[in-house]
Amino acid sequence: MFILFFGGVFLSSCNEEARGFALPAGDIEEGKKIYKTLDCNTCHSIAGIEWKGGTDSLKVHLGGVVTRKKTYRELVTSIINPSHKIAQGYKRQGTTHEGLSKMVNYNEIMTVQELIDLVSFLQSEYEIVSPATDYYPYY
Ligand code: HEC
Repeated sequence: MFILFFGGVFLSSCNEEARGFALPAGDIEEGKKIYKTLDCNTCHSIAGIEWKGGTDSLKVHLGGVVTRKKTYRELVTSIINPSHKIAQGYKRQGTTHEGLSKMVNYNEIMTVQELIDLVSFLQSEYEIVSPATDYYPYY
């Protein structure tokens, strides 16, 4: 009984933070416009939108074929808290000496609606997409 209880607490705590997090459906076309307006393409390349190239010549590819779903939880995190998890392959080039992401912080200028639309656009650019928008307990 004791072990079951604490085992349960441990397992549930793994996903505790993400539970109950659900975005409304966004507008892909709007998201694409916002991607350009916010100049994401200074550092990112994505199919159909030209990479502008910034001072650091960072070129982090977004979209394309992925082996695992990009959930909107991951994408939202990548945008509003980029240093939380650094994209695979960009630990050296994409981070500062302190190991923080070189990505611009948009949190003061981006509206929540823009974030929702942007995430919908990005999701549509990955070949394996559409996470369940309802509650899905097993990850
Ligand atoms: C100044 C450069 C820069 C700009 C501008 C920028 N990013 Fe990034 N972004 C990065 C770097 C570097 C990484 C890789 C390191 C990391 O994971 O944070 C990254 C990572 C990401 C990732 C995670 C990719 C993955 O495969 O895990 C997403 C999603 C992303 N950016 C979206 C955006 C969006 C959307 C915008 C525009 C609103 C934007 N970025 C603007 C530099 C930038």
